[in-house]
Amino acid sequence: MTTDNMLADAYALAHTRRMACPDDIALLAAVTDTLPDVPTVVQLGAGSGTMSLVVYAIRPQCFMITVDHDQQNLNWEAKALANSTGDPTILEHVQLHTPSKRAGENYRAVNVDLLIVDADQSYPGVKNDLIAWMPNMKKEGLIFVHDYDGTTAPESYPGVKQACDEVLGKRPKYRRGWSGVFNARFSKAFADQLSQ
Ligand SMILES: C[S@@+](CC[C@H](N)C(=O)[O-])C[C@H]1O[C@@H](n2cnc3c(N)ncnc32)[C@H](O)[C@@H]1O
Repeated sequence: MTTDNMLADAYALAHTRRMACPDDIALLAAVTDTLPDVPTVVQLGAGSGTMSLVVYAIRPQCFMITVDHDQQNLNWEAKALANSTGDPTILEHVQLHTPSKRAGENYRAVNVDLLIVDADQSYPGVKNDLIAWMPNMKKEGLIFVHDYDGTTAPESYPGVKQACDEVLGKRPKYRRGWSGVFNARFSKAFADQLSQ
């Protein structure tokens, strides 16, 4: 399976499942292309596996962990990856069937190049995920937040931007589609608040 074919599968899945727009896919592909050759990627929220296809298309050697509290969605993701790669036992991929916040707190040994935040899209949900996962991020790591700016999306989640503004600051490094990408560090105001 080539990069182009896997990306085409991701665009097709985004279109049918309506969980992401083409610009989200393009941004995630561009950001993944800036990562090391063998990056560690953590995705919070398996959904239908759309974003996993993007990451594997660009970095087939990645070590990827997907976290979801719904086993059925993990199964959908595994199926999408197996279908697109033609490898039914795709080994590089780890799935954690657990709430995203708990996974961040329990797996401190994971050292993350790219965190994809796309699980509980409420204000406390996103805030908790960012706080729980930040200690696991590499210094130069990136955080891709889906539905950061979903004003044109079929469903919008204003709590996502509210949490990012507070925890990461109001200026994403990149912004395209419904998504924003941030350097993996707390905003100064939030870091000050945490240290009090
Ligand atoms: C919008 S979908 C993710 C879409 C996915 N990124 C993709 O590319 O298709 C959200 C997912 O997050 C999961 N989820 C929601 N809240 C969660 C939580 N607190 N912990 C773990 N998974 C959660 C849902 O089960 C669902 O699969």
